[in-house]
Amino acid sequence: MNRPIIALDFPDKVSVQLFLNKFPKNESLFVKVGMEIFYKEGPSIVTWLKDLGHDVFLDLKLHDIPNTVRSAMKSIASLGVAITNVHAAGGQEMMEQALLGLKEGTPEGQQVPELIAVTQLTSTSEQQMHTDQLITCTLNESVCHYAEITAESGLAGVVCSALEVDMIKQRTSRDFICLTPGIRPADAVVGDQKRVVTPREARDIGSSYIVVGRPITKSNIPYESYLKIKNEWNGVD
Ligand code: C5P
Repeated sequence: MNRPIIALDFPDKVSVQLFLNKFPKNESLFVKVGMEIFYKEGPSIVTWLKDLGHDVFLDLKLHDIPNTVRSAMKSIASLGVAITNVHAAGGQEMMEQALLGLKEGTPEGQQVPELIAVTQLTSTSEQQMHTDQLITCTLNESVCHYAEITAESGLAGVVCSALEVDMIKQRTSRDFICLTPGIRPADAVVGDQKRVVTPREARDIGSSYIVVGRPITKSNIPYESYLKIKNEWNGVD
C-alpha cells in the first residue's frame, strides 16, 4: 500500500520521538523532514529516522548558485533519503547541477534520491507574484512553466497543490511526480491551508504522493488517524 508522507513539523528530536512512540515499533513510515527540525538537529535526525526503518523526504528547498547546490546535494545524497527538493526558480542549470550532485554523492549500489522542485509556493498569491517577483503571467502559467523546465532539467517531478496536478501532467507527462500537501480528511480541521483536498480526492486527481502533517501529528490518536488516511489514499474502505 502507498504510504502518506507524514510531515514531522516538530521543534526537536524529543518531540519526534514522543510522536513516533505512538506507532507500532515495526511500522515503516514515510516521513518528511523539513527545515525546522533539520536546522535544529542536523543531518543526524535523518540517519536516526533511517536507522528506525523509515523512508525520508528531505524538504530543504535548495536555491543557490549551481555549484553550491551541486555540492550540497552531494552531501544530502550520502544521507540515503528517498526524495529531496530544490526551488525551480533557481533555474535549469541549477536543477541539472543538483541532479548531478545527487548522482555523485549516492553511495555505490544505493538508489539515487528522487529530485523534485517547488514551483510557486502555495503561500504565494497571484497578486504577490506580480508585485514581488514582477512575473506578469497568471499563477497557473508560472506553475506550468516551472514544471516544464523542471522536467526538461531531468528532475522527477514537482511539489504542487493537488488542484494543479492535472494541468501539470498535461504539460509534462503522466508519470511526472506530483507530490501534494494540503490534504485534509473530510472531518479534519483545515487550519491555515487554503485549497485542501481529501486523500480520496488526491488519489482520484492523480497525486503521486500526499504529504499530511497536522491531521496526524496533532491527532489524539495519531496511528488511527494515519491508518484512516492511508486507507482512503489507497481506496480501501
Ligand atoms: O499540517 P499540514 O498537513 O498542513 O502540513 C503540510 C506540510 O506540507 C507542512 O510541512 C508544510 O510546510 C508543507 N507544504 C505545504 N505546502 C507546500 C509545500 C509544503 O503545506 N506548497
